[in-house]
Amino acid sequence: MAEYETFEFDVLIIGAGGAGLRAAIEASSTGIKVGLVCKSLLGKAHTVMAEGGMAAALANVDERDSWKTHFADTMRGGYYINNWRMAQLHAQQAAERVRELEAWGAVFDRTRDGKIMQRNFGGHAHPRLAHVGDRTGLEMIRTLQDHGIHQGIEVHMECTVTSLLMDGDRVAGAFGYSRELGKFKLFKANAIVMATGGIGRAYKITSNSWEYTGDGQSLAYEAGADLIDMEFVQFHPTGMVWPPSVRGILVTEGVRGEGGILKNSDGERFMFGDIPENYQSSTADNPEEGWRYVTKTDRDARRPPELLTRDHVARCILKEVKAGRGSPHGGAFLDIAWIKEKLPNAEAHIKKKLPSMYHQFKELAGIDITTEPMEVGPTTHYVMGGIRVDGETQMSTVPGLFAAGECAAGLHGANRLGGNSLSDLVVFGKIAGDSAVKFAQENGRTSISDEQVNAAMEKALEPLDSSRATDAGGAYQIQYDLQEMMQDNVGIIRQEDEMLEALKGIEELKKRAATVAAPGNRQYNPGWHTALDLKCLLLVAEAVTRSAIERKESRGAHTREDYKGKEEKYDSVNTVLRKDENGEMQVALETIPEMPQELTQIINDHK
Ligand code: FUM
Repeated sequence: MAEYETFEFDVLIIGAGGAGLRAAIEASSTGIKVGLVCKSLLGKAHTVMAEGGMAAALANVDERDSWKTHFADTMRGGYYINNWRMAQLHAQQAAERVRELEAWGAVFDRTRDGKIMQRNFGGHAHPRLAHVGDRTGLEMIRTLQDHGIHQGIEVHMECTVTSLLMDGDRVAGAFGYSRELGKFKLFKANAIVMATGGIGRAYKITSNSWEYTGDGQSLAYEAGADLIDMEFVQFHPTGMVWPPSVRGILVTEGVRGEGGILKNSDGERFMFGDIPENYQSSTADNPEEGWRYVTKTDRDARRPPELLTRDHVARCILKEVKAGRGSPHGGAFLDIAWIKEKLPNAEAHIKKKLPSMYHQFKELAGIDITTEPMEVGPTTHYVMGGIRVDGETQMSTVPGLFAAGECAAGLHGANRLGGNSLSDLVVFGKIAGDSAVKFAQENGRTSISDEQVNAAMEKALEPLDSSRATDAGGAYQIQYDLQEMMQDNVGIIRQEDEMLEALKGIEELKKRAATVAAPGNRQYNPGWHTALDLKCLLLVAEAVTRSAIERKESRGAHTREDYKGKEEKYDSVNTVLRKDENGEMQVALETIPEMPQELTQIINDHK
C-alpha cells in the first residue's frame, strides 16, 4: 500500500467557497481545530459567479421590504416545494450576514445617502441585491478568506477528496490526495461540513468551472445520505454564446437588473409576449436609482418582464431560437446600451455597474456593450437539489455529516431566485459550522479502521492500473460524451423517452469509466483526476435523470414536453434518492411537512 499522511481535526470542512469559508470561520471561532480542504486554489470558487449581488431585505432602496416579503418571494420562486424552515431562517438572517460582511471589510456600492446599494433581480419584489458592481461574489470570497485565514484555519488547497470514512453509521473522516504530487491524505474528524458546490460539469454548456463535478452530493450519497430534488437544475438564461470557446460563461442577471432588455432577431422585445397573469410590467425608466418592481399591489412601481424568474426567461429565449428568431449563434440579444436614451452618462454608468461584463465582452467577443447588444443564451448554472439536510442544523441523514450552500438542498425548491445563493452560503455556512461544532463536542471522538483507509486508497489508485483496458476511450472522452448526452437528453426541455435513453447511456458510460486507464503516475496527472471525477459526475447525472423521470409534471426549472404544467399531486412533494442494500439508486416521492399557519399567512399576505 502507498503511504499517506494523517491530519486530525475536530471539524473538517470540504469546499472553500462562501459556504465552506463561513462554516470554517464559525467553527474556528470556538477555538476548536478546523481543517479546510479545497479542490482548487483558495479564492477560486463558483461563488464568484454570483456576480450581481446578495439578496437580503435591508430595505435600503425600498423601505417596504422585509424578511417576510423575502420569504414569500423565495417560496413563490421555488414553487412552494422549498424547505420552508430554511426559507424562513434565510430571509430572517440574510440582512445580518450582509452587515457582518461589511464589518469584516467587504466593499459595497452605496446609495446617495451612504447605505448599501441594492438592485433588482428576477422574482424579488423589491430592489434587494446588495452588490459591488458585478463582482459581488468575488468580494464575498475575498472578505471571508481574509477573515478566516487570520483565525488560524488549516487549509489544504488543491486536494481532492475521494471517499468519506465512517465509524459505524457516523462520519469519521475523509480520504483524498494532493492534485499536484498525488500524495494521499487522511483527514480524521469528529464532524464534517460538505460545501463543495454544484454539478454543472455534467453538462456541456455551463457557467461552472472544472471543479464542479458533484463531489459533495456523490460522496454524501455513497456514505448513506439522502439526496433530494435533483431534477431541478437551473439554466441561467444568460450565458455567452459566441465565440464557441467562451460558450456558457455567465452574463450576470445584473445586466437586466440595470435595465438590459432582451430582443429577438426581428428586434422585438419578446418577453412581453409571455407575461404570467399576476405580473404587471412596463418599460423601466430609471437606471440610476435602480429599477422598481411591479406586482398587482405595488401601484407605483415598475419591473420589466426581463426580470421574471430564471426558469421562465430561459424558456422564452429557447422558444425564440426554436421559432427561428434567435441571434446568429443560437441565442437572443441582450441590450444594455439602450439606456443612453434615458441616461446622459450611460456609458460611465454601464462601466461602473457592470465592469466585468464590459471587459468580458470586449476581450472575449470583441463587443462593446455600451454601444452594441450581447448575444446570450441559457447556461447550466446551479442545482437546487442536493444533500437532504435538517432545516434547523444543516445535518444530513448521516450523523455528523453536515452540508451547506449549493451541495445542500431545500432552500430554493424548484427554482432559485438570483442573489439568494450568496445569502444562502453565509446564512447556512454559519449554521452548519455552529451545528458541526456542537455535534463534535457532544459526540466525542471517532475512529477509522485501517481496512477502510486501504479500500479508499485502492479505489483511488484503480485508474492508474497499467493492465486496464484502453478501449474504453480516455477519461476526457467519457466526460465529454456524458456532457453532450445530458445537455441533449436531460436539458432545459425534457421528455420520458429521451431521459430513458440517457439512463441507458449512463449505464454504458459507467462501464467504460470502470475500466478507464489514466496512463502515467500520480504526479501531475490530469487524466487521473478526470477518471476519479467521473465517478461523481456519473452518479449525479443518474440522480438528475432518475428524479426527472419520476416527476411527471413541469415545475420551476424542471420542464417536461410530455407533462406540461404543474400537477397538484406534486404540489407538496420532494423526490428522494437513496441507495438500497444492493447499492442501487432508488427514487421515492415524499410529502413535505406542513407549513405552520403563520408562514402560510405571510405567503397569502404577499400574493
Ligand atoms: O447573474 C448573476 O449574477 C448570478 C447570480 C446568482 O446566481 O445568484
